Amino acid sequence: MGDETSTSVPAQGQEPAVGAGSVKQQLSRLVISSLRATVPEVEVEPMVEVSAKFADYQCNNAMGLWSKIKGSGTSFKNPNAIGQAIAKNLPSSDIIESTSVAGPGFVNITLSNSWVAKRIQDMLVNGINTWAPILPVKRAVIDFSSPNIAKEMHVGHLRSTIIGDTLARMFEFSNVDVLRRNHVGDWGTQFGMLIEYLFEKFPNWQEIGSQAIGDLQIFYKASKNRFDNDPEFKERAQQGVVRLQGGEEKYREAWKKICDISRSEFDLVYKRLNVELEEKGESFYNPYIPKVLAELSSKGLIQESEGAQVIFIEGYQIPLIVVKRDGGFNYASTDLSALWYRLNVEKAEWIIYVTDVGQQQHFEMFFKAARMAGWLPDPNEKKFPKTSHVGFGLVLGSDGKRFRTRSTEVVRLVELLDEAKSRSKSELLQRLTENGKIVDWTDEELEQTSEAVGYGAVKYADLKNNRLTNYTFSFEQMLSDKGNTAVYLQYAHARICSIIRKSNKDVEELKMSGAICLDHPDERVLGLYLIRFAEVVEEACTNLLPNVVCEYLYNLSEMFTKFYTNCQVVGSPEETSRLLLCQATAVVMRQCFQLLGITPVYKL
Ligand code: ARG
Repeated sequence: MGDETSTSVPAQGQEPAVGAGSVKQQLSRLVISSLRATVPEVEVEPMVEVSAKFADYQCNNAMGLWSKIKGSGTSFKNPNAIGQAIAKNLPSSDIIESTSVAGPGFVNITLSNSWVAKRIQDMLVNGINTWAPILPVKRAVIDFSSPNIAKEMHVGHLRSTIIGDTLARMFEFSNVDVLRRNHVGDWGTQFGMLIEYLFEKFPNWQEIGSQAIGDLQIFYKASKNRFDNDPEFKERAQQGVVRLQGGEEKYREAWKKICDISRSEFDLVYKRLNVELEEKGESFYNPYIPKVLAELSSKGLIQESEGAQVIFIEGYQIPLIVVKRDGGFNYASTDLSALWYRLNVEKAEWIIYVTDVGQQQHFEMFFKAARMAGWLPDPNEKKFPKTSHVGFGLVLGSDGKRFRTRSTEVVRLVELLDEAKSRSKSELLQRLTENGKIVDWTDEELEQTSEAVGYGAVKYADLKNNRLTNYTFSFEQMLSDKGNTAVYLQYAHARICSIIRKSNKDVEELKMSGAICLDHPDERVLGLYLIRFAEVVEEACTNLLPNVVCEYLYNLSEMFTKFYTNCQVVGSPEETSRLLLCQATAVVMRQCFQLLGITPVYKL
């Protein structure tokens, strides 16, 4: 897992346009030039952080530089002197209002109010895309969701779908070309059994529709039962795998039919969640396995162990098996080939895998194998191409155990999502009836709003925690309009929209003609927080942590409340400026919702 905190600034020679990137990236560019002037003999990364206490931002390079150059005949007497020089050598720019140097050389930077105001106004005019951070990659693969054919798509897959989609949205917003990959488990020995059972149960299988087969999980269980209890069937099933893998037409066709049925099940979930994925299942990589294993073999990585082909990896007791004893390929050989494909054919620089933490060891091991093969650089030397495993914790029920519904049966994801929607609909109806507003709503609005609120609540409840922690699934909690929930945030956003509506002013016109002014302390705090948006997205991408965006969104709505409590908007002399701040807050909130895959609502 990544934990980089330094800001990525493209190397010299490919400097982005002035004004591009996050505030941190822009300040970092100024700091780089100052560092080059201050200590030309050493090359260091700029260290710029948000500083809540003394100023708006802070440059923390002086101390580290001091330990590098002291005793080397430098004319600097102490870190404070270096800090002074860094401050003095900052190129003049309209970003910075003033600087001061504290203690061992911390350079406190106060931003210029008019620059902050202008940046917000520019965003309103030119769109929030101009606030996209600059990431050091052009193309990423995000491998997420990835359920298994004919098996249950469980809450683990739901988490992977929600987290993976959000990561993809954040990278896409940052202008990275994202390959959204659904690595479905559509290959393996279970297909022999499934296909033979299909032939047996439905001799006319070619003509029947998917409904006839009914629930694939029940079908799976029944075929497994046949497999375990009838040696003759088992024999046939094992032959079936060989015939399928040998490419026999009838077997390929039956395989495809089974995959199609599963796929249409999965699609019901993706459709509700509004998630786009491109399927490249395990079967896709099968033809590449022999070539990839031959390469690893030629590099001396593969050994024979107890009849299997394995790769021994430093630090692990058990080796990574790449060819099973029966000669079949497995999860690891497929993943190695998929990685080879993603690096060499798809030319991805960052390959990200979203699964539960239970699979962490598998990923660590095959990443190491790839490094041994020279496919990936030493992580200490070069950053890209690189692979990351985005692990997440369990979903728990209110009993603190693994989440299940009513019976011992698994949770059906479609039903779960439908319940979120219907609960949010009945709450909405009740409230609208109570305050007599129900007459203002069309059926379509009701439907769309309950979907946005209900599905959004499920997503947000998952995303707001650090992904590694287990979280407890509770409809009551996630659909509450109090606390850090999507419902609360939807209300906060809808309220801002209603403030703007009720002012009877045309914001489109205001943003072209009016100006933002940040004289009141609460206006300034809100303004500064708004322009931090890009670096928040940058951090969430760099460390693969969607909860960073949730935290920002929640804090932003709290800051807005403070501003709105202390600064009169409508009817005040500052009305225009303050309405523009309202509008900017709404725009940034909507963009956060967009990144989290939540549809914002404009009235509630
Ligand atoms: N199908 C796997 C599962 O359900 C997840 C696959 C994750 N992706 C990968 N490239 N291994 O656990």
